Amino acid sequence: MHTLCAMLLLAFMVFVYSSPAVNKLWEEWKIKHGKVYDNQTELDFRRAVWEKNMHLVLRHNQEASEGKHSFTLGLNHLADMTAEELNEKLNCLKLENTFNFINGTFKKVSGSSVPQSVDWRKAGLVGPVRNQGLCGSCWAFSSLGALEGQLKKHTGVLVPLSPQNLVDCSTKDGNLGCRGGYITKAYSYIIRNRGVDSESFYPYEHKLKQHNFLKSFENGKCRYSIQGNAGYCSNFHILPSGDEKILQSTVASVGPIAVAVNAMLESFHLYKGGLYDVTSCNPKLINHAVLVVGYGTDAGRDYWIVKNSWGTAWGEGGYIRLARNKNNLCGIASFPVYPTL
Ligand SMILES: *[C@@H]1O[C@H](CO)[C@@H](O)[C@H](O)[C@H]1NC(C)=O
Ligand SMILES: *[C@@H]1O[C@H](CO)[C@@H](O)[C@H](O)[C@H]1NC(C)=O
Repeated sequence: MHTLCAMLLLAFMVFVYSSPAVNKLWEEWKIKHGKVYDNQTELDFRRAVWEKNMHLVLRHNQEASEGKHSFTLGLNHLADMTAEELNEKLNCLKLENTFNFINGTFKKVSGSSVPQSVDWRKAGLVGPVRNQGLCGSCWAFSSLGALEGQLKKHTGVLVPLSPQNLVDCSTKDGNLGCRGGYITKAYSYIIRNRGVDSESFYPYEHKLKQHNFLKSFENGKCRYSIQGNAGYCSNFHILPSGDEKILQSTVASVGPIAVAVNAMLESFHLYKGGLYDVTSCNPKLINHAVLVVGYGTDAGRDYWIVKNSWGTAWGEGGYIRLARNKNNLCGIASFPVYPTL
């Protein structure tokens, strides 16, 4: 049975590698993701990058079918960009000196009192998946995700908040708009400003404009208005770095938590589904901010449920399940932060 599968897969791969089939896949992929390129040079380059990624995806998924990986890759909307480009354009999180914040107030909760699994999506504490586009604004999506959860817990209403508000208005607090920012400085702005607007009042503007890199880096003028104010926090807490047990018990007792991760690997960019477990995902190389919305265990393997801001075409409808209790894989517990109302 296994041999038959492998042979069929091989036949499929030989078929796919032949040019007319590749052309067809490419045309379908472009339509699916609304890709339009400025000129022939650009199109040829994007096609070459996409094809390289296609080979990577096919090879990886074949290995996954042989049991060598616990997750699959796919040709999502990022598949026509190189890892270097993506890391440059999406590199959005600035790392702060955690040292200044750490406090011994977080006690380890004994294992038995912490639930085996948590999924805050089921309790309605998590808003729809969004897409930051080619703007390094992950810090805004991540910090607001944790705040949306706390507000929902408090008021009973889930209101998506405005990352554009933070991108345009929090430079004074040390953030750099589309060039990156800090989770903590997003909260500092909201505390100083006494609020943040809702997404519907102050909508996001940096939609994925294909390769219009320069334009996507321009930050707009601050247009915050108290009329659109839909959220507030008075403080924030940073968890001790690298402790997945404390992160687990805090997710269980508090709600969704903003975290930093290493999102530099191609396998992360092209992640499609399953349990992401890549031992080379160095917890010290952090460049991205996301939101932990829960955790669980599948066939004896622990994972975190993580919400990204790369749209629903990426991962499991915009989410990734990342291996948990694997020595702080990808730095998931390196810098967890949550706001208090
Ligand atoms: C083709 O498009 C790319 C990206 O949009 C641009 O950088 C380049 O200058 C264009 N080349 C020509 C020959 O127009
Ligand atoms: C840490 O805790 C001490 C009390 O033990 C408190 O005085 C201090 O303000 C706290 N620091 C931070 C950054 O929360």
